[in-house]
Parts: sequence; structure tokens; C-alpha cells
Amino acid sequence: MLGARGGWQALRRCSSLSRAVRLRVREALGAREPADEVKVQGWVRSVRAQKEVLFLHINDGSSLENLQVVADPSLENRDLTFGSAVEVEGKLVKSPHRMQNMELKAETIRVVGPCDTWSFPLKMKERHPLEYIRQFPHLRCRNNTLGSLLRIRSEATAAIHSFFQDNGYVHIHTPIITSNDCEGAGELFQIEASNEARESAEKTHFFNVPAFLTVSGQLHLEVMAGAFTHVFTFGPTFRAENSQSRRHLAEFYMVEAELSFTENLQDVMQVIEDLVKTATSTVLSRCPCDVELFHKYVAPAQKDRLEQMLKNKFVTISYNEAVEILKQASQTFAFKPEWGCDLQTEHEKYLVKHCGEVPVFVINYPYDLKPFYMRDNEDGSQRTVAAVDLLVPGIGELCGGSLREERLPFLESRLQRLGLADTYQWYLDLRKFGSVPHGGFGMGFERYLQYILGVDNIKDVIPFPRFSHSCLL
Ligand code: 4AD
Ligand code: MG
Repeated sequence: MLGARGGWQALRRCSSLSRAVRLRVREALGAREPADEVKVQGWVRSVRAQKEVLFLHINDGSSLENLQVVADPSLENRDLTFGSAVEVEGKLVKSPHRMQNMELKAETIRVVGPCDTWSFPLKMKERHPLEYIRQFPHLRCRNNTLGSLLRIRSEATAAIHSFFQDNGYVHIHTPIITSNDCEGAGELFQIEASNEARESAEKTHFFNVPAFLTVSGQLHLEVMAGAFTHVFTFGPTFRAENSQSRRHLAEFYMVEAELSFTENLQDVMQVIEDLVKTATSTVLSRCPCDVELFHKYVAPAQKDRLEQMLKNKFVTISYNEAVEILKQASQTFAFKPEWGCDLQTEHEKYLVKHCGEVPVFVINYPYDLKPFYMRDNEDGSQRTVAAVDLLVPGIGELCGGSLREERLPFLESRLQRLGLADTYQWYLDLRKFGSVPHGGFGMGFERYLQYILGVDNIKDVIPFPRFSHSCLL
């Protein structure tokens, strides 16, 4: 019997030529007992030929750890190089090495796909910097750091879905092509048919009206919150903003939630805090080795920071307090802090440091800084709205949310002033037919990964660093 970590099913090959049981590397490493007739497929991470024995290390993406293959030197061949794809059959035996549970004693080694090591940009046993492998978007997933990152990204995605499903939220696929600019910031990519199709259609816009790639699924989620109470979405989002920065992408993933029957901003903040803590502890427990790689080699201080974050309650300050703190700072900022001005990254980072390098909620921002949907706090004439941003160490803003303006007259007059009342008739309808106090938030998924792993450049937490190199996949 083979025991396997992760409960994966071993597949018995149907081929009449081989009775070998096919195992993923992770299953082989976690097996509790030796087994005959085992087959492992993967890519060679190292080859070491000695007089008496040939050592290979094989990786198939199922774990950071490689499987050691021990073979008779007669099995060596010219194509068996670093980077080549191989299929090894043999016996799974207890490894004599302390650091490793099992190894594969090869009986046959077949090179499925050779690899020209001379022109292959990754080199055996080299620790390539993230900047170097970013140049090879089509090959960098075969590097340990990116391998770990992508497994963590996959676990974090699942953890976020589970958090919401476990708490009674309905998952909604909000549209990617839409006619609304939810944030009103004009950072939109417009969608049109290519020239050829447009000429034949003889119309200005493919959809008759201007259409854009979504900047946020929030308004569509608000529709759904009017029927399902608690909803969430987790999908690609697009913004035509400076993609040269270390925390902005043109295409990124956003987690968004909307909660009906919510009167207090604190209730929205509690969900944000629970989400960040639950997803993080799940990732830490489900992929400890992958996370350790980052906390050891990429950001050594991050492990302690996360432990502190998980143990303590997030700090809350108001925007007013934030501006006062910034004004009294001994540091000089490129942007002078003033009430009514947006907080810049340098301000956000200072506030986090001032509060002890822990996550900080900043609440109640100036009315004029925020989009039309945020709820007026009525603490003066259109002075502040019930908005919240979560700022985290090393990154700055991770989440943005608010109570939504559920009162028809307030919303109607704000939209009229902005000249948007016609565009948002359907949104006003939501306040006419069974409107309830509600709130919600959005969290940038890439920034979340940057935060938990301590990765400086956002391009290093996406599978493909799009539009940053001449090779556009
Ligand atoms: O603060 P934002 O703009 O909020 C919204 O879009 C709301 N409609 C969300 C909601 O309430 N449903 O964006 C939310 C988060 C930011 O806090 C940030 O983490 C991330 O999305 N974000 C970006 N991440 C990477 N690249 C960009 N260009 C980003 N713009 C925003
Ligand atoms: Mg924001």
C-alpha cells in the first residue's frame, strides 16, 4: 500500500507494456511504504554521474522538494540533461538520507523531451534572481521561486473561495465587459471590434454604446446582494494606470464582497480582517515549504510580521487622525499631507510604520475624494463618507471598501450633480425597490500575495508578467 500526502489517487497505467503505478513526485515523497513498479514523470532539476551511481533530481510541480532518483550509470545517456522531461520506472525505497523519506531506484529512464542546456536560460543549481527570470515569462514557472509562488497563489485562491462559501456567501461571476465605470476614475480600457469588423458593421461602437473592461465588479455585486444578502466575486479586473509601479498592474485579480443589512462600517472591517487572517493561516498551514522559501530567501522579516498580524487586532484610525499624524511627522514627503488630499503610498507606508508595522484601517475619508456610491456620514455638509482602506506593511493599500449610499434622495442628488443620473437609472432602481443599508469591499489579490510573501514587485506574483517585455504571451 502506498500512503500519499494530500490524498491524491495513484493512477495505474492501462498500458499492457507496463504495470507501473504512476505517482506524482509529492505522492512518492510522502509514501509510507516502499513499492515495486512505480513510474514518475517530470523535469530533471539535477544530474550527477558518479563512477558507481547516477543521481537525478526530478520535479513535476507537485512540490518544492524534488524526488531523488538513483540509477546504475549504464542508464545515463546524452539527452539526460538538466531541464529534460523524463519518465522513470523502478522501485520506491526508503532513502538512507536523513533529509528525505523515499527515493526511486530506477530500472528504466526514458527521455521524453530533451533540453538544450546551452541555450536554456535556467541553469542547474543557480539561484536566479526574480529580475532575471522575469525576462522569460514562458519558462520561469520551472524555477523554484516561481513554482512555489504559483502553488501558493493556487492555495490562496482556494482559501479565499472557502472563506466566503463557509460563511454563507454566494459566488457571482460578474461581467468582464461592462458599460459602467464603477470607480469613476476614468482608468478604463475601451472595447471595440478590430478595424475590419467595425467597418463592415458600419457603426460607432460594437455594442452600440461604449463598452469597457471592468474596473470592479462592485455595482453588479450590489444587484445580487439585493437578492442573496451576502455575495462575493473573485475575478480579473483592468485599469489603464501606470503599470510601471511596483504595486500596480493593468490586469489584476480582485476579491470583492457585498453585505446587505449592514449598518456599521465596523461590520465590513470585521469581514476584511477575518478574510485576511483566515486566508493567511490556511496558506501557511497548507504550503509551509513553499512559504518558507519566501520567508527565508526573499523577505526574512515577513514570518514574524505575519505571526504578529495573526495574533493581534488590526488598528483603526480616522482619516482626520491620519492627516494629523502625517503633519507631525519628522519625515518630509514628496506630497505635502493636507486634509482633502488623497493619501499617497509614502503616506500609507509612514502610517503603517507609525502604528508599529501592523495592518491599519483608515476610515471616514473626505466626501470629494471618493466615488459616488459611498455613504455620506452627515458630519458636516458633504464632509466625509463611510469609507475604509486597509493599509499593510510594505505595500500600503490592500483593501478599499465602504458603506454604500442606500438612501435614494442622497444618491439621486449626488448622481445628478455628477451628470450621471441617466447612466445609473438602473442603480437608482436598487434604492427604489427594497433598499437596505449595505456595505462591501475589494481586496487586490496580487497585493495580498505581495504582503504575505514579502515580494517587492507585483510583477513577480503573477503567472505571466504581461506587457512588461517584448515577449507578450
Ligand atoms: O480601492 P479600489 O479601487 O476599490 C474598488 O474598486 C471598489 N469598487 C471595491 C469594492 O468596494 N468592491 O480597488 C480595490 C483594491 C485596492 O485596494 C488594491 O489592493 C487593488 O484593488 N488594486 C490594484 N491592484 C493591482 N493593480 C492595480 N492597478 C490596482 N488597483 C487597485
Ligand atoms: Mg482604493
